[in-house]
Amino acid sequence: MLRTHLRTHTCGELRLSDNGRLVTLCGWVQKIRRLGGATFIDLRDRYGITQLVFHGEDRENRILGEEGFHREMVLKIDGKVIERENKNKKISTGEIEIQVSIVKVLNESKTPPFTIEDETDGGDDIRMKYRYLDLRRNPVRKNLELRHRMAIETRNYLDKLNFLEVETPILIKSTPEGARDFVVPSRMNPGEFYALPQSPQTFKQLLMIGGFDRYYQIVKCFRDEDLRADRQPEFTQIDCEMAFVEQEDILQTFEGLVRHLFKTVKSIDIPTLSRMTYADAMKFYGNDKPDIRFEMKFVELNNIVKGKEFKVFNDAQLVVGICAKGAAEYSRKQLDELTEFVKRPQVGATGLVYIKYNSDGSLKSSVDKFFSTEQLKEFALQMQAESGDLMLILAGEKNKTRKALSELRLEMGTRLGLRDKNTFACHWVIDFPLLEYNEELNRWHAMHHPFTSPKPEDIALLDSNPGIVRANAYDMVINGVEVGGGSIRIFNKQLQARMFELLGFTKEDAQAQFGFLMNAFEFGAPPHGGLALGFDRLCSLFGGADVIRDFIAFPKNNSGRDVMIDSPSPIAQEQLNELGIGLKKK
Ligand code: AMO
Repeated sequence: MLRTHLRTHTCGELRLSDNGRLVTLCGWVQKIRRLGGATFIDLRDRYGITQLVFHGEDRENRILGEEGFHREMVLKIDGKVIERENKNKKISTGEIEIQVSIVKVLNESKTPPFTIEDETDGGDDIRMKYRYLDLRRNPVRKNLELRHRMAIETRNYLDKLNFLEVETPILIKSTPEGARDFVVPSRMNPGEFYALPQSPQTFKQLLMIGGFDRYYQIVKCFRDEDLRADRQPEFTQIDCEMAFVEQEDILQTFEGLVRHLFKTVKSIDIPTLSRMTYADAMKFYGNDKPDIRFEMKFVELNNIVKGKEFKVFNDAQLVVGICAKGAAEYSRKQLDELTEFVKRPQVGATGLVYIKYNSDGSLKSSVDKFFSTEQLKEFALQMQAESGDLMLILAGEKNKTRKALSELRLEMGTRLGLRDKNTFACHWVIDFPLLEYNEELNRWHAMHHPFTSPKPEDIALLDSNPGIVRANAYDMVINGVEVGGGSIRIFNKQLQARMFELLGFTKEDAQAQFGFLMNAFEFGAPPHGGLALGFDRLCSLFGGADVIRDFIAFPKNNSGRDVMIDSPSPIAQEQLNELGIGLKKK
């Protein structure tokens, strides 16, 4: 099937059963070995490696001149499949080799700036600059093959459920997903700009109003935000929307998708996704995307720590701890490391209290001065600590302390080997608050986005106590990574207008920016909801990696640059003039 006019087989295809067959292969020179009178070459393509053998020194030289073969040169060879003397069990073609009769050099290659091996000697920067060479490496190729399989299986699953893939525009106007927009100047409308979509949010809602009750799209989204390992300025979503549904329908449909992906792509049966409210996620894990591969839940200790001599606890709004199973043996040095860890500015705690429940039953803590053994036992009881365990406690302002303990919990999970990349814990976090107060801007801010519906039973609270209104919004979390999020939408003009008002929009602004959607609500908008899964994140999780970059063919670096094509880059003054920006006087 892969036969073309230039080759009969790929480099991953031939077996002992092909012994004696005359074949033509094409590929890149991976490795050259000269042994006695013979030259051996590993010829590589996307499908594998086949060993070529050239007998007699002069054959190589006659064909190639004095220079001979070198790495990454592109060859076409004709030859006969023969059984190898020294078989290589590690590769699928390892029982045969090709006795070459004719070699044609299809193209020369300079020496690559890094080795094209699974473990390359190239650093990130050089690999990105020569990404096309990096793509020749197995690990990167495998990641993109995985990505392809994920996309195919996503389409298979959604197609069976009657979802239609519809493309939405890339040149749009701002969608408020919370990040900055990338903008594109309009030549035909001087001084005006398109924005690239942060997501197709408003369009998919309009598709529901257009009667397409099940939509999806594997789609590029653009967000001008600070980059991290799991964030790229352009990334891909599996974006979905359904009409005539309740939250339950959405949760079931998309947990079905993720289970289908695990089953078909990784042959893993994952159980039904558990659900946790946002309130519980914050209380027990200090985090809205808890990694539940391991327990180590937060235990609040305010009731037993107050009124003793220890000022840190007395002054704290919250005293909260975790119990690290089997870590009582931690040395002074390890405990110091943990203290340093929590004091890092990114974590932000002022100090760390520990209590060791030693295997002989004794208790040793960093606060022995203030608490008696009896009192320490009370801690152990409350934290369900047993002998051999280490209790770690933080104190301070409620939210900050939870956030810091959440980081410490993850650190302990990693140190204790509880975060295995081949174990998958998937769950939903539900009942997110509708709004978040932004102290800096002194106003409410939509926690998911402004089109998210409050829970019907909480709508009455919008006026009196907006901060406690819950939304029909949900996130899907796998191994502590937010892989997706969505909500049931508002589909009523008045409620949408009220929402914009709460978010500080004037009537005019709301109309100018989102009039198209609110007006559409007046023409028979069906109840609807949906979600978007972060496709790059999903692929990297399936591939056992934290960094999404290696699952994207041509990613940007941490400064948002493509170092291969050297972009972004300045543009010519004429082009700027034409666009009506940065006009210079002639
Ligand atoms: P949200 O903003 O939560 O929702 O995005 C959905 C998912 O997209 C992924 N994601 C990213 N992945 C890589 N790089 C980024 N910069 C990035 N930003 C987000 C995350 C996230 O969970 N329109 C709504 C969805 C809806 O309500 O239906 C939306 O975009 O995995």
